[in-house]
Amino acid sequence: MSKKIYLCQNCGYETYKWLGRCPGCESWNSFVEEKVSVKNRERVAGEAKPVGIAELVTVETKRFSTGFSEMDRVLGGGVVSGSLVLLVGDPGIGKSTLLLQLAGKIGQKQKVLYVSGEESPVQIKLRAERLNIQEGIDLITQTNVTEIEEIAVKGNYDLIIVDSIQTMYLPELGSAPGTVAQVRESTGRFMRLSKEKNKTIFLIGHVTKDGYLAGPRVMEHMVDVVLYLEGERHNTFRLLRSVKNRFGSTNELGIFEMVGDGLKEVSNPSEFFLSLDRHRDSPGSAVIVSLEGSRPFLVEVQALVAPTGFGTPRRVATGFDYNRFVLLLAVLEKKLGFRVSVHDAYLNVVGGLKVAEPAADLGVVLAVVSSFREEPLPNDGVFLGEIGLTGEIRPVIGLEKRLREAERLGFKKAFLPKQSINFKTEMEIVYFKNLQEAIFKLF
Ligand code: TYD
Ligand code: MG
Repeated sequence: MSKKIYLCQNCGYETYKWLGRCPGCESWNSFVEEKVSVKNRERVAGEAKPVGIAELVTVETKRFSTGFSEMDRVLGGGVVSGSLVLLVGDPGIGKSTLLLQLAGKIGQKQKVLYVSGEESPVQIKLRAERLNIQEGIDLITQTNVTEIEEIAVKGNYDLIIVDSIQTMYLPELGSAPGTVAQVRESTGRFMRLSKEKNKTIFLIGHVTKDGYLAGPRVMEHMVDVVLYLEGERHNTFRLLRSVKNRFGSTNELGIFEMVGDGLKEVSNPSEFFLSLDRHRDSPGSAVIVSLEGSRPFLVEVQALVAPTGFGTPRRVATGFDYNRFVLLLAVLEKKLGFRVSVHDAYLNVVGGLKVAEPAADLGVVLAVVSSFREEPLPNDGVFLGEIGLTGEIRPVIGLEKRLREAERLGFKKAFLPKQSINFKTEMEIVYFKNLQEAIFKLF
């Protein structure tokens, strides 16, 4: 059974009559009449009667490795068998490449089906050759979800890769592939397939230019895991992070590099990011230790401060929160008397990384001061600390991990807020109470 409703193609808002403007996301002219099947709206699983928590028997979730330790970590220790994983990213970022490589690795042990709605089997084969994959994967070009279900069950496949969900469709809905109803209902069907037949399924999803999952966020609620593959086009490295994970934490980061034969894991990110032409003795450069999930890595932040030629000073922050940057500049002006309001200030995190934690504050501010004064910072030191509005420097979490990593990479000094250290380190520790003291001691 199915019924006709109007669906916003941007956010999935439903109405029974056409509207010019979506009340959900405020976009204009985004409603399209679509059929949705009523059957798929029933809950996927679950008993009708309540059960006491003590009476329920748990089975341990079975996980298997993807063959990429970077990806296993992001997933929380491998893929859970029978889970539905959505991999999202901009077109051309490497989603098909990553999952084809994964298929090649898992194909050694399990039965793998790669369903493509975008490329022909011969095109996929050409790519596989480039990735040195010879065997272990069955390929098919198919976009009809019902047919795919049949093939998956008949062929007894353990792992199914669907490239991409926006090309999949159910003929009974009548609308074109990629519309909200199609994407949502197809995802629902893959969800059922994974749960009822215990099949592990990876769906590839494209994002639209404004950063939304095309056909849209409703998918995120349905799947078990949502992974984002990010990176900049002119840069070779790619970051894999999870924004939703029913089986693990969401703050781990996987790092890959796109090379001639596919994506290569970067297991020593600190060396990788620091090696990107570091100008150790130039003013405006500071090294910080960022902690992403359980893993620390060192990154260089660079600042450039120059007198404003005309009008309002410019502020640009790449890889760092713009508002936070402006706030830190205001602290410098007000508390330390630096006339940053008549200077342009640019900040860049080297390598195209994004640093989101407050522990980077001290490094950022000192890079700015270093550029302002045209004096380099000690090149064998790392800088850590969150800065408050009064110029005080606050403790950071995970200090031991961070310092061990800095030490491993040959850094000799750590510039830190006053906080107790209950581990042994060879590094020379320099404490700062506040920014005033830091600048007095360093310049
Ligand atoms: P692709 O996986 O097709 O991206 P997506 O599926 O996310 O749209 O990757 C496309 C880009 O990756 C393409 O521009 C070429 C590059 N690439 C490499 O650099 N090395 C490789 O081995 C492969 C297969 C692709
Ligand atoms: Mg692709």
